Amino acid sequence: MYRFICALLALLGISVASANPLVIAHRGASGYLPEHTLEAKAMAHAMGADFLEQDVVLTADGIPIVLHDIHLDPTTDVEERFPDRAREDGRYYALDFSLAEIRSLRAHERTVKRDTGEREAAYPGRFPLDTGHFTVPTLKEEIDLITGLNRSTGRHTGLYIELKAPQWHTQQGYDAAKAVLAVLEQTGYTDQSDRVILQCFDAATLRRLRHELNTPLPLIQLIADNSWGEDGDNDYDAMRTAAGIADIATYADGIGPWIPQLLTIDGASGAAFSTGLAELAHEAGLVVHPYTLRADDLPDGITVEQLHTALFELVKADGLFTDFPDLTRAFLDR
Ligand code: G3P
Ligand code: CA
Repeated sequence: MYRFICALLALLGISVASANPLVIAHRGASGYLPEHTLEAKAMAHAMGADFLEQDVVLTADGIPIVLHDIHLDPTTDVEERFPDRAREDGRYYALDFSLAEIRSLRAHERTVKRDTGEREAAYPGRFPLDTGHFTVPTLKEEIDLITGLNRSTGRHTGLYIELKAPQWHTQQGYDAAKAVLAVLEQTGYTDQSDRVILQCFDAATLRRLRHELNTPLPLIQLIADNSWGEDGDNDYDAMRTAAGIADIATYADGIGPWIPQLLTIDGASGAAFSTGLAELAHEAGLVVHPYTLRADDLPDGITVEQLHTALFELVKADGLFTDFPDLTRAFLDR
């Protein structure tokens, strides 16, 4: 129905700006606490986020856990705890560890490895790297936390689940999509289309979720840059054309573009201009949920306020993945 109304309004030349854009806490309140920890999710819930994001990969025993990468090394102490368990490429794959082993790891702020081999914080001004007692949660544990907080606060904060590298999981002999749907079934979220959104960079996985696994949940096609080497056989340049957007509308409800795909920003003046992608998507009845607002890693020449204004007022984004849900909530509430 939403799509029909949008299409009708577009035909009449009426803008389809979202009345209530969504604050999507990107990996939780990850600007303040280590990403994807339950603490970061509780903080984002308290900040009034509409949805909390879960990136999901599987353990060796096939359990969905909330972790951004298929690798454990950027955000846990796995290298110190299990020094002999790296693959030939030197990486530590979550899929090679049991849930019991992953539970024993200490999660921390995201790190990057320098040429010297030393790890340092990806965002140095964020939560200290060496303090805290954080762990990697399962998807079920995180859903239980959100359900509990919704009950105790009377809020209706939703889940926004990304299937990470589903094609790679298939090649390794695992069905990530089925595993996630099983947890949603177990927790009673199967058909709560107002409380759960599924997202993926891989179009084939989204088509499968819609047409083979028959999920009624909203689906968002994430749009990467072709140079990033995302999972699956996807041409993200083609997705951003009129034909590509029309194709996405046959299996998904919206797009999740990278902010530079929506906006061209003049670094000298801070002026922002639409690339036309948001308009194209809205005309096709798709919602637009760009990623990612980082107050400590903004595009050159633009402030947080200006970026929020460009996203919500110029291109009329229907939601925003944000590491700083308090700032996005405050902007929208104003
Ligand atoms: O899922 C939206 C956004 O999170 C995509 O980028 O790499 O942070 O998962 P990434
Ligand atoms: Ca994500």
